[in-house]
Amino acid sequence: MTQGQTDVDLTAHHIPRTLTDKIAHRTVRFMRIFADGFFSKRYGHRAVVLETVAAVPGMVGGLLQHLKALRHIRDDQGWIRELLDEAENERMHLMTFIEIAQPSRLERAIIMLGQAIFYNAYFFLYLFAPRVAHRIVGYLEEEAVISYTQYLAEIDAGRVENLPAPELAQKYWNLPADARLRDVVLVIRADEAGHRDRNHEMANDLTSGHTRPSPAVQPRPSSVANTR
Ligand SMILES: [Fe+2]
Ligand SMILES: [Fe+2]
Repeated sequence: MTQGQTDVDLTAHHIPRTLTDKIAHRTVRFMRIFADGFFSKRYGHRAVVLETVAAVPGMVGGLLQHLKALRHIRDDQGWIRELLDEAENERMHLMTFIEIAQPSRLERAIIMLGQAIFYNAYFFLYLFAPRVAHRIVGYLEEEAVISYTQYLAEIDAGRVENLPAPELAQKYWNLPADARLRDVVLVIRADEAGHRDRNHEMANDLTSGHTRPSPAVQPRPSSVANTR
């Protein structure tokens, strides 16, 4: 993640070509219908509930890539660290939005049930079809970019109060002391665009059988050849 960078491609979309890509895309679009119906324009609440889900894939992917690297006794090309960083980044999104909106009792129940179902489903999906798992996250992140763009439009139209940025967010993204909610949504949207691009890349790498190292990792000459 590039902290504080807000200049991102808002329209990037991976065109689904394979059957599994099409299923992944349809699944995410279908889930969006429920999210739109339930939250409508309550973007603060939407962010709190959905960020509790968004913080799961990176941790599951990091765990399973770690186990895979142990089993095959090989270098992970920086994927484990990157996926765990993604999970941490998503948890910071959650900790930021909890300062903006408090979930209702129903939403807390949905968070509990959602985690129980989503964690297990994603774990087995990643275990048996990691490429599809990364593709689904890529599409979820495409939707996250759209949702945060709509959130920004609500703030700009004055329908959502542009509150001062939570202190935690100021520190995490190195925002100025007078930063507002709008500034926070901008950096979070940039994070989501980064997750979108990397998860689509990871899915592509798993398709081609050639893994590129994480951008944050410089390959070492002694790296074990990766055949992920
Ligand atoms: Fe997020
Ligand atoms: Fe994300």
